Amino acid sequence: MGWNSWNHFACKVTAADVRAAADAIASNGMKDAGYVYVNIDDCWQGVRDSQGRIQPNEKFGDMKALADYIHGKGLKIGIYSSPGPKTCAGYEGSYGHEEQDAKQYAEWGFDYLKYDWCSAEKVYQRDQMIDVYKKMHDALVRTGRPIVFSLCQYGYGRVWRWGASVGGNLWRTTEDINDHYDRMSVIGFDQDGLESFAGPGHWNDPDMLEVGNGGMNHDEYLTHMSLWVLLTAPLLAGNDLSKTTPDTLSILTNREVIAVDQDAKGVQGRRIAQEGPLEVWAKPLADGGFAVGLFNRSESASPMTVNFKDLELRSPATVRDLWQHKDLGSFSRSYSVEVPRHGTALIKIR
Ligand code: GLA
Repeated sequence: MGWNSWNHFACKVTAADVRAAADAIASNGMKDAGYVYVNIDDCWQGVRDSQGRIQPNEKFGDMKALADYIHGKGLKIGIYSSPGPKTCAGYEGSYGHEEQDAKQYAEWGFDYLKYDWCSAEKVYQRDQMIDVYKKMHDALVRTGRPIVFSLCQYGYGRVWRWGASVGGNLWRTTEDINDHYDRMSVIGFDQDGLESFAGPGHWNDPDMLEVGNGGMNHDEYLTHMSLWVLLTAPLLAGNDLSKTTPDTLSILTNREVIAVDQDAKGVQGRRIAQEGPLEVWAKPLADGGFAVGLFNRSESASPMTVNFKDLELRSPATVRDLWQHKDLGSFSRSYSVEVPRHGTALIKIR
């Protein structure tokens, strides 16, 4: 859990934006809710010096000082590179400098690396991808610093089958998300079937959150967050945290909702029933209960039902509304609720 600069700031990001994000996380309740990593995405890089050492550009200045600042808040810091000569935005990549870059990140004090395929496409064949990712992983290990390794290659080559074997702690399963309901929902609902590949220490990553960026309405952002927690997805907020509204903050920090994502059993949820645009998803929890999402992908409100026989659950079972923190009572065989257009009911059944 954490934050990443890309979805809101893209290439405009500066060190001041990263510090402001850390200040916000440390003071607005996000840190207490579990958000830890403050991740710089693309566009921090400058040129290499005469010894080939990567330097930040003028928007970033002293990277060690930035890392110290983030650590001083009790948070961790992430950085970004590409195995290719250039990153996706055309900045300096790590091609031919893998060992040197890993050492540099460790010296600066980084705790997380997102490694984005981008121009590696021009210098490698797709079937070399496993070796290319392993090369950077081995370089990171040799630094002696624990560094989370985030694979970003858009799901090519069924990465979920080999991501963990090259040391990936998370791997993107899709092309990029954007701040629209249609794109978010295609990505999220397409994750069904990948659940067996995720587990503690190595997760499917359906891309970062757009909650609070303004392109979806309240119900749609509840759907985004509900789906991501049922998917046991990495939760990297992608909005401008220095300007977060109370509504956005309440979506990002709802404790019962986050507890679904972070549940100790570490199982990714899946679709258990579908009737056209009405989908029911469930995730088994460590306490024997299930988190269940009733998702209405249609264009108008609709009644929806979860049948307990689709879960391995004794009936009657108790139902709790996780967004509202409200016990809804005991139900036999099924639970029904009206779900708004593009909205979600997120409940726990036990
Ligand atoms: C790719 C990645 C994004 C982001 C950009 C940066 O598109 O998928 O998440 O990192 O590159 O250029």
